[in-house]
Parts: sequence; structure tokens; C-alpha cells
Amino acid sequence: MAIFLDTAKIEDIQKFHRMGIIRGVTSNPTLLYQAGIVGTFDEMKKYFIHMAELIQPLPLSVEVTSNDQEEMIRQAKEFASWAKNINVKITIHGPQGELHNLEVVHHLEKDLNIRVNVTAMMSAQQCLVAAMAGASFVSLFCGRVNNMGYNAIDEIKKLRRLLDEFQLKAKIIAASTREILNVVEWLGAGAHIVTVLPNLLEGMIVHPYSKETVQMFLRDGERGLMADVKSKAGTV
Ligand code: E4P
Repeated sequence: MAIFLDTAKIEDIQKFHRMGIIRGVTSNPTLLYQAGIVGTFDEMKKYFIHMAELIQPLPLSVEVTSNDQEEMIRQAKEFASWAKNINVKITIHGPQGELHNLEVVHHLEKDLNIRVNVTAMMSAQQCLVAAMAGASFVSLFCGRVNNMGYNAIDEIKKLRRLLDEFQLKAKIIAASTREILNVVEWLGAGAHIVTVLPNLLEGMIVHPYSKETVQMFLRDGERGLMADVKSKAGTV
């Protein structure tokens, strides 16, 4: 699966999807808000349906905006009805550590066949429990883990071993990327997916020395082969 794009912007998705290099998209309420994407429920619904259509059948994560148990289930059903490739993001627990979120995750996956991405997790143990509840994706916020002074790579390795050993279906999404290096580092450690910010994905592609090399090829092409082509065509 490798690379997902972590964005709420349609133009980012179009740009990288056209290149064929993303395998899914993750969004969250903060990314939407920061991108200035706000609107009525119907406008947001149209927006997400458009996003899902753009990348289908690749998965798109849409996060619930409430921590009330009934409301989370209502929103999850609604989001999942918008497109087959939408999965629903639920945080591991509530803002005060309330535990009913995993009950919601289990219900959605087991009874309603809705794919869930359990999010905002900072440790392998949280991800393991979410995977036990039936989550299809477990999002480990690796950048935040590193910011707390722990090494996310250790958590990814531990988690991958446990998921494989217990044959749990959850895929690890290494999230909250902070550096370009994170992508290959975290995939190498065993993450199934790294969700990457658009500017970091661009940074993975563009290299100053590649630029210089491309400039050399074009310059010499102009002087050699292209000069001949142009003179034959009578344009010089
Ligand atoms: C992942 O799905 C999240 O959207 C995101 O990576 C969180 O990143 P942050 O730590 O920068 O908020």
C-alpha cells in the first residue's frame, strides 16, 4: 500500500493521483479547518463525495466530529454511505480518556461492515487494542511519538510483529509525518502505509542534483540533437 496522502485539499489529491503514486488519502478535521474548507453539512458531503470519486477505488479516511457514542455511529453510517471507498476515522478514546470509542469501532466493523481507521494513537499497545477491536487501519502518530522523545520506529516494529503474530487484519498507518526521511524509515520498520503531507511528498521527488542533471541534459540536447532537428525543420 505504501503511500497515502495526508490532506484535505482536492488540488493536492489531483496532482499526486495523476502521477499514480498514492494509494489512499487521509483527512482530519484540523486539516480541513486549516485549509479553510468549511461549509454546511451538504457542502461537506459533496466535497467528500468528490474526493472519494477522484481516487476510487483507493481508500479515503473521513473523521467523525463528535465523541458522543450515538452521534459517532450516526456519522459513521452517513460517511460510509457516501462512497464505497470511504472509511471512518474514530479516535482511540474520548478527550478525557472515555472508553466507549472502541465499542463503537467494534460495532461498526463487526455489525455494520464499516471500515474504521482508529486514530490519534501514540503507542503500539493502543494500536494493538484497536486492532483487536476489529479496526481495518490503525494510525500511529509517529511524528508526535518522536516529539515526545520516544522513537516511533521501535513502536512500529513491536506493533507489526504483534499484528502478524496474532493474524490481525489491521494495517498500520504511520502518520503525522514531519520529515521526508520518515517515509522510508517507517515503511522499513514495518508500517504498511505512511501518510504523507503534500509538501513532503514533493520533497521526496525533487532533488537539487537531479535538477542540475536535468538542466545539463536539456542544455546539451539543445546544442546537439535538437539543433540538428531544428535546422532540418528550417526553424533555425
Ligand atoms: C493522520 O491520519 C493524521 O491526519 C495526521 O497525520 C496527523 O498529523 P499531525 O500530528 O500533524 O496532526
